[in-house]
This record gives sequence, C-alpha cells and structure tokens, in this order.
Amino acid sequence: MALLLGLETSCDETAAAVVRDGWQVLGQRVASQVDLHARFGGVIPELASRSHLEVLFPLVEDTLHEARVTLRELDAIAVTVTPGLIGCLLVGLSAAKGLCLATGLPLVPVNHVHGHIHGALMPWMAERAARGEDPTPPWPLASLVVSGAHTSLYASTGAAEHRVLARTRDDAAGEAYDKVGALLGLPYPGGPAIDRLARAGDPRAFRFPRSRPVPGGLDFSFSGLKTAVLYAARGPNAPRTVWRRARPATHETAEERALRIAFLPGVRAEDLAASFQQAVVDVLVGRLLEAAQLIGARGLVICGGVAANSGLRARAQAEAAARGLPLFLPPMALATDNAVMIAGLGDALFAQGLTAGLGQDVEARRD
Ligand code: KG4
Ligand code: ZN
Repeated sequence: MALLLGLETSCDETAAAVVRDGWQVLGQRVASQVDLHARFGGVIPELASRSHLEVLFPLVEDTLHEARVTLRELDAIAVTVTPGLIGCLLVGLSAAKGLCLATGLPLVPVNHVHGHIHGALMPWMAERAARGEDPTPPWPLASLVVSGAHTSLYASTGAAEHRVLARTRDDAAGEAYDKVGALLGLPYPGGPAIDRLARAGDPRAFRFPRSRPVPGGLDFSFSGLKTAVLYAARGPNAPRTVWRRARPATHETAEERALRIAFLPGVRAEDLAASFQQAVVDVLVGRLLEAAQLIGARGLVICGGVAANSGLRARAQAEAAARGLPLFLPPMALATDNAVMIAGLGDALFAQGLTAGLGQDVEARRD
C-alpha cells in the first residue's frame, strides 16, 4: 500500500497525479497542448517538449497541493519512459530523476501503453477493493489500445505483461480520424469533431474499405480508408496533398478553406463522417473479438484517446454483453493521456519491486 506521484509527458499532454494504494486519486492535473499545436494540424515535437518543460513543475506543485501531500510523504515517483516523443519523454524522466535525487525516493519507469490498459481497469479494481473483493482483473484480457499514435491488440496477463497480437501497418486509427477531420474542414484534433458530426449522418451512405493487410491476421491498416474518404468527398482526381497542408489551417483564407473542403455535388460531410466511423468501428471491434477468441480472453479492454468515441463504446458494449464478457473502458476523463494511469500502474510495479536507478533512459518506440 503506497502513495505515488505519477508524471506523464510522452506526447502533447503534461500531466501529474497523486494516487494512493493504486486507485485512490488524491490530486491530478492535465495541461493539454492542443491549442499550441492546432494551427499546425499536428504535434510539433520541439514545441511540445519546450511546453512540457515550462508547465511540468508548476503542475506538480498544484497536484501535490490538491492532494495535500508533500514530496517527503510519497513512497515513489512513477514516470512514463516509453513509447513517445523522445524529447518529451526526456523532460518527464529528467524531472522525475531530479525529484528522486532530491528526496531519495525510488523511481518507477512506466510504459505509457501499459498505462492506458491499466487506466481502463482502475475504476473496476477500485470498486472491487471498496467492496472488500479481490481486485485482480480476470486475466487473460484482450486489450485494444487505440490512440493518435497506436492501434494495437495485446494479450494481457498481468499489470505489466502485455504480448503484442497485432499492430497497425500504417496510420493509427486516431491519426486517420485527425486526417479525415482535416479533409472535412473540422478543427484539430478531428476525432471528437467527427464523433459529433457522425451522429447526424448516415453510416450506410458510403461503403468504405475494412482493410485486413495480412490475410487471416489481426493487423490493422487505415491509410486506404482515409484515401477512400478523400475520393468519395472530392472525386478520383483529388490531390492527396490534403493530408499535408502547406499552410496551417488558421492561416488559410476563407477561399482557400472553401476550396479545400469542396465536396462533389450531393456529398454531405455528416454522411462521410458517419460512414468513416462505421468502417473504423467495424474493424476495431471485429478484430478485438477475434483476438479475444484466439487467446480465450475472460474480458475486453479498450483504451487510448479513441476509446472516447461514442460509436466505438456503444458497439463494444453491445458485443461484449452479447458474449457475456466484461468490457473495461476508461472513464471519459481518463481516455486521453493522463498521469492517474501512470501512478496507478506505477503502484503495481512498485509493489513488484520494479524500480530503476538514475541510469534509466527513455525509448521512443516500444509497444
Ligand atoms: O491517447 P491520446 O490522448 O494521445 C495519443 O497517445 O495519441 O489520443 C489522441 C487521439 C487523437 O487522434 C484524437 O483525435 C482521438 O484520440 N480522439 C478521438 C475521440 N477523442 C479523441 N477519436 C475518435 N472519437 C473521439 N471521441
Ligand atoms: Zn496515449
């Protein structure tokens, strides 16, 4: 039973949290950089790491203040060390090392993707523990991590034991959402905006591809889907450069924007959004169920930013219920990047003695 500070700086959210005993959240803060990157239509790594540097320490102070905890009372500091943008990860790890050096606290390195999976399990574990029941999740679980950077399936057999079953061959699902959002003229990030727009559209208006890049395999591919949406919107000769706009969206003139989002006659953005979302949800839920069958899973996990998607949540809930499988979804506030999941997983790792020395490094890619 321990008290941990968690730090998260792997991408475009600076986050800190104080968590007791693995799931009791005493304080937490998330500073999103969405506004900083919005005008570029994507995350600019150098800007992201500079912003983490400015924001992190005041954020940690606020979080400790909210939790009414001093550094000295903590048992350990957990920090995301992989995967992510290397400069961003370094800001978080260096800060954590500095705090550990100053206080003598142990450092707990955490994998961000495993953190997302753990974050989906935390509310259930907290409830079980509160009722005096065993909070151990019903391993093995089939876990889908679906964000702006990842679309992967795992066989999860323990808090830090996640075997990769499948990954995306090209774009992540969230990346496809963001690119299709740009094509539809929606604000960045495209995911939440498409989710809203899709509710007013007909999901059967367009039949978009459900790619399976390896026949019989579970891997994902979303780049063909994104291109299919482009062609449906603007015809087969549409320039594919729409994904990489030369100028930031907010610097566009009204005429430029109108030209960029000019659709073929009779094509509605709502129908494109709904049909695109239907294709993504079909693939994600379909492949998660295949994975579950493959490993004999006793439950399903969906996590990462795209787990906030209303269509995905609804379909997964219906399919899981039909099979009598528990479905673990993070609460909306914990679907996107946060430090509660890092502190929570850090607690489980700390309990297993999985601490690191000050020689700990970051790693950009490792699922
Ligand atoms: O996990 P996350 O916050 O950061 C990464 O590690 O990538 O995920 C961000 C991604 C973005 O691509 C965003 O468009 C997507 O999650 N997203 C959504 C929704 N909310 C966020 N995608 C679809 N529907 C949503 N409601
Ligand atoms: Zn994430």
